[in-house]
Amino acid sequence: MFSRRNLVALGGLVATAAANPCDIYADGDTPCVAAHSTVRALYSAYSGELYQVKRGSDNTTTTISPLTAGGVADAAAQDTFCANTTCLISIIYDQSGNDNHLTQAPPGGFDGPDEDGYDNLASAIGAPVTLNGQKAYGVFVSPGTGYRIDSGKDVATGNEPEGMYAVLDGTHYNDACCFDYGNAETSNTDTGAGHMEAIYYGNSTSWGYGAGDGPWIMVDMENNLFSGADEGYNSGDPTLSYRFVTAAVKGGEDEWAIHGGNAASGSLSTYYSGVRPDYTGYNPMSKEGSIILGIGGDNSNGAQGTFYEGVMTTGYPTDDTEASVQENIVAAKYAITSLTSGPALTAGDTISLRVTTPGYTTRYIAHTGTTMNTQVVSSSSSTTLQEEASWKVVTGLGNSGCFSFESVDTPGSYIRHDNFVLYLNADDGTKLFSEDATFCPLEALNGEGNTIRSWSYPTRFFRHFDDVMYAASNGGLQVFDATASFNNDVSFEITTGFAS
Ligand SMILES: *[C@@H]1O[C@H](CO)[C@@H](O)[C@H](O)[C@H]1NC(C)=O
Ligand SMILES: *[C@@H]1O[C@H](CO)[C@@H](O)[C@H](O)[C@H]1NC(C)=O
Ligand SMILES: *[C@@H]1O[C@H](CO)[C@@H](O)[C@H](O)[C@H]1NC(C)=O
Repeated sequence: MFSRRNLVALGGLVATAAANPCDIYADGDTPCVAAHSTVRALYSAYSGELYQVKRGSDNTTTTISPLTAGGVADAAAQDTFCANTTCLISIIYDQSGNDNHLTQAPPGGFDGPDEDGYDNLASAIGAPVTLNGQKAYGVFVSPGTGYRIDSGKDVATGNEPEGMYAVLDGTHYNDACCFDYGNAETSNTDTGAGHMEAIYYGNSTSWGYGAGDGPWIMVDMENNLFSGADEGYNSGDPTLSYRFVTAAVKGGEDEWAIHGGNAASGSLSTYYSGVRPDYTGYNPMSKEGSIILGIGGDNSNGAQGTFYEGVMTTGYPTDDTEASVQENIVAAKYAITSLTSGPALTAGDTISLRVTTPGYTTRYIAHTGTTMNTQVVSSSSSTTLQEEASWKVVTGLGNSGCFSFESVDTPGSYIRHDNFVLYLNADDGTKLFSEDATFCPLEALNGEGNTIRSWSYPTRFFRHFDDVMYAASNGGLQVFDATASFNNDVSFEITTGFAS
């Protein structure tokens, strides 16, 4: 059968626009019914809206499109719009023409942390990458973050066949429920076994799991994460450690499959392909056709992960089609880029951090026991106080692209956030601690020094408020999230440490 691409080639046209994922699925007669990405166009001819950002300074929005048809997102347009303020990703547009846009997920079986039980929106700067050398921003999902469309147009329902894939950050995950992308309930509640069919990524062992310690690609079919034919353990589903992961899942009539691999090189492997799980409710399926990102079907929102691109198709894509999609993903050349900007920090240095808010500029970030605060410090302060206001910069405990701040007077204790309050706590060796103690310095929002964002909650920044230190979000629900004076309160001048 001649594909449209072949016909173009036969016609001798010069146009050699490479086929993007949704062109490839269309050629395979399993077209995309939804296509989501904040980093690039998923059709070679697509030049429309990729996503919308909303800025904190005035709550206005703008849309970000590809630089060229079929190309990488115009990240510079976001940077310009978001200069000197914070930005959230408010809409992830559907490129398929079906208007299956993903927006802030509503409450369901579980409430989200934002107003009226909605989930949080993701920071627009949490997941910078490059594609073919051009900067773009993915969707960094912290616990509590989620996107959804309740009634997806043309998305599989009942036992109808469908395919889907997503490109994810293989190193950003946890074991909470559930970092998903795919088909879920239209009611935002758990309506029973077989009512979902979504890619899951993480190291939950509450339902299924695979070989090694995880993370694994599994399929959330509701009330179960399947890693293969059986409930629980399936040896064919490997632990993945790639920075960029391709996860491809499909579900047909009495068949389903998990394929996965390195999104930056090589081909996909088959982790499962076979019959439906032999447990009540999963054969036939009762899919409902909502689309979720970052949450479970009942709005469980404890999980974390990063999403760069993904699609839903109608029909059961062939392995060959999925292999071609993987080739296109590899050709997009996903690569990491710097997580920091502004005045550079150097691991090993001892620093102090001076407040820049007018009227408070004699204050420095300090601690009193486990309480993080600001105090007036100078070279004539006591040695004790000078040490309490001095921090050893070390490579980020949770991500080597950022930093952690170790106390000078209490070695082994680091600044960390817990419920969005900053504390000085001893490193307990857990993944949670290392992530909560990792911060990425950025060019200051007020231009004076650095604004220091949380790695694990990129909407949150070091902020002094009533002389206490918080991990604050701009215009969030807490008192310490107040927009007034936000830019100044989150900007700190890095100085040589008092006690260095
Ligand atoms: C933006 O909207 C939020 C939520 O409605 C509100 O708290 C905040 O004050 C608004 N910000 C501005 C600058 O108007
Ligand atoms: C998931 O991985 C983290 C980090 O290795 C580990 O601390 C946690 O116990 C794991 N969870 C499960 C359920 O195995
Ligand atoms: C905006 O940020 C830039 C640095 O990114 C800085 O030079 C400038 O002073 C800031 N402007 C305001 C009004 O804070």
